[in-house]
Amino acid sequence: MIEPNDLLAAARLVREKAHAPYSLFRVGAAIRGASGRIYSGANVENAAFPQGQCAEASAIGTMIAHGEKRIAEILVLANSAEICAPCGGCRQRLREFGFDETIVYLANPAGIQQQIKLKDLLPLSFGPANLPSAKNLNHPAISLMDLTSLNDDDTDAKIQQLAQRATTPAGPVAALCVYSKFLVTAKKSLPYSMIRLATVVNFPGGNLAETKITQDVSFALDLGAEEIDIVIPYHLYRQDPSTANRSLVRALVERAKKQIGAGRVLKVILETGVLHDDRLIEMAAQDCVDGGADFLKTSTGKTPVGATIAAVKTLLQVIQKNQPSGRQVGCKISGGVRQPSEADQYLMLVEKMMGKDWINPANLRFGASSLLDQLLNTSSKTVNQGY
Ligand code: THU
Repeated sequence: MIEPNDLLAAARLVREKAHAPYSLFRVGAAIRGASGRIYSGANVENAAFPQGQCAEASAIGTMIAHGEKRIAEILVLANSAEICAPCGGCRQRLREFGFDETIVYLANPAGIQQQIKLKDLLPLSFGPANLPSAKNLNHPAISLMDLTSLNDDDTDAKIQQLAQRATTPAGPVAALCVYSKFLVTAKKSLPYSMIRLATVVNFPGGNLAETKITQDVSFALDLGAEEIDIVIPYHLYRQDPSTANRSLVRALVERAKKQIGAGRVLKVILETGVLHDDRLIEMAAQDCVDGGADFLKTSTGKTPVGATIAAVKTLLQVIQKNQPSGRQVGCKISGGVRQPSEADQYLMLVEKMMGKDWINPANLRFGASSLLDQLLNTSSKTVNQGY
């Protein structure tokens, strides 16, 4: 068993702050959100005993206050030799924000004694999906989404509206993707948010000169871009996938990665719908991985064919092939993904090929716009109300 010592340390620390003068039973809980961040909380009692609050509920409150809604793992630690399994009420609270696979660690002062998946802790449970109005509230694609607007008629007002949609009743999307001239507006519209700022370069044609690309990357970085989606000169593969042309693409990716630095994310757009041929997609993907890409992204959304199951499968195969070398590369599925059923098909493919644990915003993104409204089962007009 891998011991999540960071969760244990956080629970120990917060347990010291428990307010439990009546039961003297001090409990600390530490949650790892889907983003990887840790949130902790302790039990809080009061003189009217039944109104006390459990540690898990306090930790959930901290998580919610930080804008996060999904629990990857939780650790519960009491000051007794016996483990403190979450009470019935807390199991339901965890059910609201957890996954079937969410791991619940049960610890005592000596360390973790047991771990159990949420689906086993609360079988046959009642959750958000049982209410038709909240059917997709826990849909994984929401937290994996790069909510995108890359339209010629984008305006500051439209980007502000986009930013408002980014914090949904089901939690924040992963990133906002806009043209670099709108990065400042996007940033201002998302104060204190952990939603990342993404932009595009060499977009959508993939045919700008080297110096222009360098300038555009540097402009985007100055304006606060944390993620850059760069289009490779994909047409070179269609014209002549020679060693020389492949080296050109590798060098372009290498230069961009060096310029943006290790702390920021470089996604490379292959325009798989135009490359079309699996062998060309595989070749281009490998060159991008060799150049240092952090994500392989299917499409710009500006050509007739966007993401397809076949293209995503090829990208994932390249990602898998490179895993033994230690190159951790993610996949961004973009271009025409509009319906929840389409997102579900991709998620099924990714789960089958990469495993359930691989599905998180560090590895997988959906580049989309209208998909969000479809998932929330509402029009963007209604979503905007009340924000
Ligand atoms: N408690 C928790 O914090 N979590 C649980 O899951 C079970 C119980 C707290 C509530 C109360 O303050 C004390 O333990 C005794 O019931």
